[in-house]
Amino acid sequence: MVVANEYVIELPEVKYDKLKLKEICDSADNWDTKSVSVDKKDTMYYVLSGDIIMENDYIKELISIFSPALKIVRAEILRMPPDGGLDAHLDAVRQAVIIFPIQPEIFAPIYYAEGTYQNPTKILYEHYYRCPTIVNAQILHGVRNELNTRDALQISLLAPWGDILKLHAEGKILS
Ligand SMILES: [Fe+2]
Repeated sequence: MVVANEYVIELPEVKYDKLKLKEICDSADNWDTKSVSVDKKDTMYYVLSGDIIMENDYIKELISIFSPALKIVRAEILRMPPDGGLDAHLDAVRQAVIIFPIQPEIFAPIYYAEGTYQNPTKILYEHYYRCPTIVNAQILHGVRNELNTRDALQISLLAPWGDILKLHAEGKILS
């Protein structure tokens, strides 16, 4: 059963080559250090962006399969170290993100929470990735990554969630 709800939309029809993405991760030495909040060390993560991603032929090919109606703005690879993750947050601009899990095989889930950044309360929903998946970036969300370095390709979307759900229902996610 394909999951498509207010939080995530699974795209099992989108096939991709994890090894090609893993090679990009493993050969890169210019990861930028980022943090959701400078006062919380455990929210540190790393990003590979710019030409190394946007000029990569395989990533260009992946981006090209999606409909322009999703309003793709950029792609990047996000690395979370073990004993880390991302505290609950809302994304600043992007409305949604297509996530391609790269490594490890046992990939820490995304969770959605009630409350605020300073005080997330109840977990509303948790999703374990099984395939490329569009996640809603405008509901409080985070990741607890415990055991392994977690790498994911992210394609950022500006289309509102309601539009994306509609495109999915009409079978128009792909170009
Ligand atoms: Fe986010």
